[in-house]
Amino acid sequence: VKATEFKRISSGLKIMDPGFQNTAVAESEITYIDGIKGTIQYRDYPMDELIEKHDFEDVSFLLIWNHLPSQQEKLNYRRSLAARANPPQAVIDTVKCFPRDTPYHLIFTAGLSAWAATDPTTVPIYTGQEIYLGKMDAVDEGVKRTIAASMTVIALIFCHYRGVPFTAPDPTASMAENILLMMGVVDLKTSRPDPTMLRILNRLWIVYADHEMTNSTAASLHVGSGLADPMTCVSAAACALSGPLHGGAIDLAYKMFERIGCKENVGQAIEEVKQGKFRLFGYGHRIYKTVDPRVKHLKRSLAELSHNVEADPHVSVAMEIERLASQDEYFRSRNLNVNADLYGCFVFSAMGFKPEIITALLLAARINGILAHWREQMSKPANLWRPLQVFTRAKL
Ligand code: ACO
Repeated sequence: VKATEFKRISSGLKIMDPGFQNTAVAESEITYIDGIKGTIQYRDYPMDELIEKHDFEDVSFLLIWNHLPSQQEKLNYRRSLAARANPPQAVIDTVKCFPRDTPYHLIFTAGLSAWAATDPTTVPIYTGQEIYLGKMDAVDEGVKRTIAASMTVIALIFCHYRGVPFTAPDPTASMAENILLMMGVVDLKTSRPDPTMLRILNRLWIVYADHEMTNSTAASLHVGSGLADPMTCVSAAACALSGPLHGGAIDLAYKMFERIGCKENVGQAIEEVKQGKFRLFGYGHRIYKTVDPRVKHLKRSLAELSHNVEADPHVSVAMEIERLASQDEYFRSRNLNVNADLYGCFVFSAMGFKPEIITALLLAARINGILAHWREQMSKPANLWRPLQVFTRAKL
């Protein structure tokens, strides 16, 4: 072993930190979550303020380019995304070849891969030259192409699930309006998305736009640290998001409400959770140890969409879970509180979306945060992420 190599592998403080519970892997200026106060800050703005005063495009732009856009920047951003959102035939064919009951993330990663294969600008054939690191014009182009491609693939998946035609985006429409247009979720009279739905989708997307070093964002940065292209990084994030302890918890929360059935059965279900028979999905969080600041926006959106929220038996199960668990010593002593996934599924279902597409619609928002992190990573020197392990057998 060379001296320099020996120094690297044998000296210095090494920490055993399973699951990175106490290890920061990067410095970032994008998002700050205060898990004790229960607040989210995007750049220099509280998320709550952005929700009241801005739409999703402003927030996407802010997260990625570090300032709120002028009106002209916003219009240019819209146009540039729409111009890059035309799906190649290979992508349409790829999405359509999957059975309609395939989980969205499997179709998404295949669709995005098919897009990447036709897009040498974003995913260049390796030439020995790194096209992104420190080259911010190329990075910005990659960000826009990847957002446009990802949104379009998600719209194509929705159209495939429902057997409805895909509609090309409108270059003058907002990002939220365009995904609804592409999916054909429009008012039959006006052929445009319903204004209430649009307002709520903008709010939900701001709520889900970024969440600092989540499991999926970390997965994409891990891949990005090897200098992979942005579409491949976003694919990695989508794979990570599918896990039941992460974004997959939304589907499982929904299935849990169905299984519990009615609010009278919640007490028994909570006892079974405490006996370790199953996990309460939509409960607990690695960072939030008090309140998840996203929950109030979800509850408000639900109330705006549905006048008699509690009439939905699944919502009443969720509310009873929250009521009983918040008084229970098992949950209180472990600082386990309701997270965004307990109510997130209801807001989307109140908008008319089926459970199988809900996490994809959250991913559409989160891709913006993920690419903000990828852009930040590309603006700094390369640093391959390569954690250590502890070998637990006898060494030969
Ligand atoms: N139901 C029951 N018990 C729980 C739950 C839960 N949802 N969450 C944590 N616990 C218990 C654990 O069993 C453990 O108990 P113990 O001390 O007796 O062993 C204790 O609380 C600490 O749990 P950890 O798993 O160590 O906490 P961690 O911070 O690693 O977990 C996680 C966070 C993975 C989110 C966890 O709370 C969980 O599995 N929740 C359910 C899945 C979910 O809703 N995920 C979505 C999170 S938000 C998002 O990613 C979009």
